Amino acid sequence: MAKKARKVTIVGSGLVGTACAYSMINQSICDEIMMIDRTYDRAVAHALDLSHCMDFTQTRTKVYAGRLEDCRDMDVVVLTAGANPKPGQTRLDVLGEAEKITRDIVSRIVDGGFDGVFVVAANPVDIVTYIVREVSGFPRNRVIGTGTSIDSARLKTLLSEVFAVDPRSVNGYAMGEHGDSQFVAWSHVTIGGKPLLHILEQHKERFRHVKLDEIAQKTKDAGWEIFTRKGNTQFGIGNALAYIVRSILNDEHKIIAVSAVLEGEYGQTGVCCGVPAIIGDGGIEELLELNLTWEEQQKFAHSCGILKAAIASLQL
Ligand SMILES: NC(=O)c1ccc[n+]([C@@H]2O[C@H](COP(=O)([O-])OP(=O)(O)OC[C@H]3O[C@@H](n4cnc5c(N)ncnc54)[C@H](O)[C@@H]3O)[C@@H](O)[C@H]2O)c1
Repeated sequence: MAKKARKVTIVGSGLVGTACAYSMINQSICDEIMMIDRTYDRAVAHALDLSHCMDFTQTRTKVYAGRLEDCRDMDVVVLTAGANPKPGQTRLDVLGEAEKITRDIVSRIVDGGFDGVFVVAANPVDIVTYIVREVSGFPRNRVIGTGTSIDSARLKTLLSEVFAVDPRSVNGYAMGEHGDSQFVAWSHVTIGGKPLLHILEQHKERFRHVKLDEIAQKTKDAGWEIFTRKGNTQFGIGNALAYIVRSILNDEHKIIAVSAVLEGEYGQTGVCCGVPAIIGDGGIEELLELNLTWEEQQKFAHSCGILKAAIASLQL
């Protein structure tokens, strides 16, 4: 019986785009991947190189190069084409260049007839996601940014080391901007289902050395720590992208901290930022409104304020 092929385009065949493709191929997440880059030869070369993985994988993924206008039949378009901040710059400093690139790419993809789900990694990711929504005119559920999914993974990794458990046994989220104003919603962090704050209260002596502010700061700085040493990050974010795409294509309903357009949730509108959401074949199936503490609500509002100021500077 003929089965509909699951097709993904990756725009930007750089470090993040190729890490995402490699991860998807090794996990058999889709049937076809189309690589796109403004340097067409780079997309062709990566497609060829990636297609040579197939003899050593579980299932075959067809990989080929294409153009923005060829995305009509795709289920998901992953956007990784963008400007990388230079040392000393923040992610928000590259907004002007990112806006120009994103406008051009998204309008050409949508004019070509694409009607699936956009998944965005290009920085500053919350604002680029907002731009994609505005330029595409898609409903908000079909525009998803990687948001604080990677920061939440970093948080879980740090906590897994402190408490000597598998990171997947830790549940919790970094929320808000994928950037300097993000915060950890400590009131909702659990380890094996047990609230972290209760664990610390119950075992005061044993965990006396645990400083939550330091862990939150390390979570926030983790990207820069990698960036200052090797000039980029790629594998964590490549896997985060693949994880989101898998949840869409398999309708898995995984809960992931993604960047989503807010329409009243957490008292916010006209902004995109990291919040937990159920991800399925419709894209964002539902946003989760956590019962944040008063202090966390203030941090969330502060982060949204920074993002809104950046959005106000756009040509939308
Ligand atoms: N969201 C996250 O957590 C996260 C993590 C790492 C990187 N990033 C962001 O992802 C983006 C890509 O990072 P990278 O390290 O892969 O950069 P890179 O320079 O290695 O790759 C970017 C690629 O995009 C291509 N490109 C640029 N403009 C294009 C256009 N108009 N059309 C088609 N292709 C175009 C370039 O030729 C290049 O191959 C950056 O914005 C970076 O800041 C985000």
